[in-house]
Parts: sequence; C-alpha cells; structure tokens
Amino acid sequence: MTDDPLDLMTPAALADPFPVYHRLRTTAPVHWSAGHNGWLVTRHDLVSACLKDPRLSAARAGAVFGRLPPDFRAEVAELERGFAHWLLMLDPPDHTRLRGLAFKAFAPGLVAGLRPRIQALVDAAIDRIAPWGRCDLIADLASPVPAMVIAELMGVDAADHHRFKAWSDDLALMELGPRGFRQAQASMVAMTDYLRAVVADRRRAPREDLISQLIAAEEAGNMLGEDELLANCVLILFAGHETTTNLVGNGLLELWRHPDQLALLRAEPALLEPAIEELLRFHGPIQRVRRTVKEPMELGGQALAAGDAVWLLVGAANRDPAVFPEPDVLDLRRQPGRHLTFGFGPHFCLGAALARVEGPILFASLLRRLPDLALAGELTWRKDLSFRGVVSLPVTYTPE
Ligand code: HEM
Repeated sequence: MTDDPLDLMTPAALADPFPVYHRLRTTAPVHWSAGHNGWLVTRHDLVSACLKDPRLSAARAGAVFGRLPPDFRAEVAELERGFAHWLLMLDPPDHTRLRGLAFKAFAPGLVAGLRPRIQALVDAAIDRIAPWGRCDLIADLASPVPAMVIAELMGVDAADHHRFKAWSDDLALMELGPRGFRQAQASMVAMTDYLRAVVADRRRAPREDLISQLIAAEEAGNMLGEDELLANCVLILFAGHETTTNLVGNGLLELWRHPDQLALLRAEPALLEPAIEELLRFHGPIQRVRRTVKEPMELGGQALAAGDAVWLLVGAANRDPAVFPEPDVLDLRRQPGRHLTFGFGPHFCLGAALARVEGPILFASLLRRLPDLALAGELTWRKDLSFRGVVSLPVTYTPE
C-alpha cells in the first residue's frame, strides 16, 4: 500500500476508483504501475485500440503461471492446462476457430427462447425472499439467479447452482496467493468432472442446449477434442454468472445513489434497456482486462517491452469525457454509446446478449415487487477490479 495518488489498490481507491481513473487519464494515460506490475491504460481511444491490437496477446495463462516458482507451477499444472484452452485466453488462429464455434452454439434463438424461464427463475427467487423483509441481495438473489440461468442455457441441472457458484468463486480468487491457486485447481477439476458426465450424457442423447450444440461442433471435427470442449464449458459456466451478479449489485447501488434517476426509471419503464447500458457504462462489473505485449511497441508515448502486462481499464475508458459528455453524470436517457464493459474487438463478450436479456428482467422485477428496497448496512468491495462488486448487499424492504 502506498500514498501514490495513482495507486488503484488502496482501500479508498477500491471503494471509489473513479477519481484515480481521472487522474490517470489526464496525467498519465499509459502509466507503469508497480502495484499492478504492468501498464495501466485509461483513455478510451487507447483502450479500444489495444483491444483490437494483434501485438497484444490475450494468452494470459502463461503470463500468470510463468511468474510462479517452478515447483509450484508443476503442482498447479492442471489448472494452467485448463485455462490454456479457454477461448478468452487464446490468440488467433485458435481463438478464431473456437470463437466461431462457440458463437454458432450461442444461436440468438437459444438466448431469446430463455426469456420466460429467466422470468420464472427471477419470480421464484423474489417469492422466496419477499416475506423476509431483509436479506443479502447478492447471496439470496443476484448470485443464484444468474447461476441458474447459465445452467439452463448450458443444459446442466439448475439445482446444482450452489456448486457452480462455489467453484466459480474459487476460479475468480485464484491469484490471491498459493492457497488460492490450489483451491482454484481443485475447483477446476471438480467442475470439469461434473461437466464430463453431462457431456457423456448429451453425446448419447442430445438436447436443445449449449452443451449439445458444442458437442455437435466438436463432432463435426472442428475442435481439438474433449479437453478443449470441457475447458470452454467451464469458461462459459464461470463467465456466465459472476458478472451478472455484479451488474445487479453495482447497478442498484448507483440507482440508490441517484434517486432522481431511480424515480425516472420507475416513471418510464421503457427506459429499462438504455438504463442497463448506462449502468454498465457508469459502474460495470468488469473494470479491467489484461493483455501481454508480444513485441516491443509504442503506446501513448511510452515504450512497452515484450512480456509487459497491460491492464486495459475499461471502467476508466467508460468515463472518458472525449467520448461521453459529462461522464460522471448517471443519465439513464443517455444515447447508448461505445461503452467497453463487454470488451471490444475479437474477444467481445459472447454472453452480452444473455446479459442484456437477464439484466432488464432482474431490475424490472425487483423494482416492481420490492419497491422500497433500500440499502441496510456497510459495503465491502471485493479487492479486485477485474470482477468489480460488493461482497454482500444487505437490504430491507416491506415484506410481501
Ligand atoms: C454484465 C455481464 C457481463 C459482462 C460485463 C461481461 C464482460 C466481458 C468482457 C469485458 C469480456 C472480454 C474480456 C477480454 O477482452 O479479455 C467478456 C468475454 C466473454 N464473456 Fe462476458 N460478460 C458478461 C456476461 C457474460 C455471460 C452471461 C456469459 C455467458 C453466458 C459470458 C461469456 C463470455 C465469454 C465466453 C467470453 C470470452 C469471449 C472471447 O474471448 O472471445 N459473459 N465478457
């Protein structure tokens, strides 16, 4: 911890990183950060250019595991192998091939067809908490619902959502020391074993679900094999809920902090979809994504060396006044702009369509069913800007 005004990891910056983003963007838009052991990039034009720049690699598994002592790296080799197949962490040509397959499997009909099921899952979750009058909205709703939705989409048993959630949490917290890596490996193995059984079942009897679609693609000879298939099922199960959970948490917090905007949303439900986009821009569940420099390059007047880590602060780019006038004003009527919360370029979020169906249903249902929902306790932010969100969200409301 330092008193460096550009340090993003102080308790104050973790609670509210936006003033630091502004300082970085205006004084040092490409800044070497000792705390991040890499470059921080904050300007919208630079972040979006980097997201499309082939000189920057998304293959972060090697970079993260390469820093481990050799013995320990060997101990967690299974974890590294799993990540190495994730399309999120691949460059062309493997990324292009896998992305094409996964994109086809995410057929728009599959997501749109889930709308009634998503509404039913949200209704059931609210039915459960409504009589209580108080709850932790993260643990009791914002976390289990997206886990159940992604389970439905994939075709795994939604009743097992607690297990996916626990495994996913372990993967998200991996870099917090050796215990984190070991725990992440155990969860990666458990998740893979679980999915192996589902894949075997779908090979025998395909259904209308994402796993069956991915198997069909694999059997058409387009995938390297079972390991790649299973690793990407783990990725989708993982990516499919941590983020949506924090869309609900961060979004509600911002609506409570801006009561005029909350009142506007209640008065004009037609604003719901643009409102979600604005909440995603203003305080998104992903604040930074990582790349590694493949060859020496110049960026914003700085010389980047091969192997350097580059942190693209999409959350800072989303507050860049060059692209978003009055960026620190939450304006639910804002014209949908070029926010980078779902990324940009080749790795643009595969689940954006699902999040854009799920988000409005969650917010509309909560505002309608629990109209006086209010924050009722202290907030603790996760010590991680990649997955930005609160640990818990204590709320009260009039019991139904
Ligand atoms: C509000 C919710 C979400 C946010 C903010 C979000 C954000 C992102 C971002 C920023 C990336 C790009 C990362 C990079 O460039 O390194 C990404 C990729 C990805 N997301 Fe999401 N995501 C969300 C929901 C989902 C959901 C619901 C799913 C699955 C159903 C999903 C699946 C994926 C996958 C598979 C990738 C990798 C794509 C690739 O590498 O080509 N995401 N997401």
